[in-house]
Amino acid sequence: MIFLGPPGAGKGTQAIELARKYGVPHLSTGDMLREHVCKGTPLGAKAKPIMERGDLVPDSLVLQMIRERIERPDCSHGFVFDGFPRTVAQAKYLGELLKQHGYKRPFVIHLVIDTTILLRRLTGRRTCKVGGEIYNIYDRPPKVEGICDKDGGELVQRPDDREEVIGPRLQAYEKQTAPLAEYYGRLGLLRSIDAAKSVEEVGRQVLQSVQSVRGAR
Ligand code: AP5
Repeated sequence: MIFLGPPGAGKGTQAIELARKYGVPHLSTGDMLREHVCKGTPLGAKAKPIMERGDLVPDSLVLQMIRERIERPDCSHGFVFDGFPRTVAQAKYLGELLKQHGYKRPFVIHLVIDTTILLRRLTGRRTCKVGGEIYNIYDRPPKVEGICDKDGGELVQRPDDREEVIGPRLQAYEKQTAPLAEYYGRLGLLRSIDAAKSVEEVGRQVLQSVQSVRGAR
């Protein structure tokens, strides 16, 4: 499964829930890269300034990281990608990688949303430092301010959720990632969902789409 959509469309929110339901890993390249930055690895050192500008990290760095991740045993029953692939080159590489490892072709959920809604979602987002649970101070606040309902972890704001970085992130999406909708659409692997609806409604539609695809395969 792949979630495709602009920053703030709700990829992480839906991918976490879906992965939980099916008992498979949620693989967010954004989370993986942030972990590298936090640990100060050589990859993190290269990625940090790029992420702070709102640009995409080069394919070569991301692809190596993905290959290593999906070869771990917990991925043997499938996985949910959030934020990957993000360029046509990444999608082609993934197609080959899945073939090599004997997986079926991916199924892509395209979260479609007007960009005017995204600013509120991104500037209001807070994420749990411990478990990665996602909140929004405007629309999905925690019960206690700054504290995760699930594990009591501290809620933090991502450095790239500042207004001045959101513009470049949206531009990078339009230029480099949006063409993937056409790419996967032509392969007959894409289902589009209106991501402006509530989290629960989007979740229902995601589940329906996944069930219908699983039934058809
Ligand atoms: P990444 O972490 O992937 O960020 P992103 O794609 O910009 O997406 P977001 O995480 O911002 O949004 P989301 O769609 O997951 O929304 P969420 O569910 O959190 O990437 C960060 C950076 O890493 C990139 O800029 C790039 O530099 C680098 N990178 C990552 N992957 C890469 C790759 N493959 N190649 C190259 N570079 C890569 O929701 C957002 C907010 O909205 C939350 O507050 C949530 O509560 C709220 N919300 C969600 N759904 C709803 C709803 N239906 N109604 C109301 N509120 C909602």
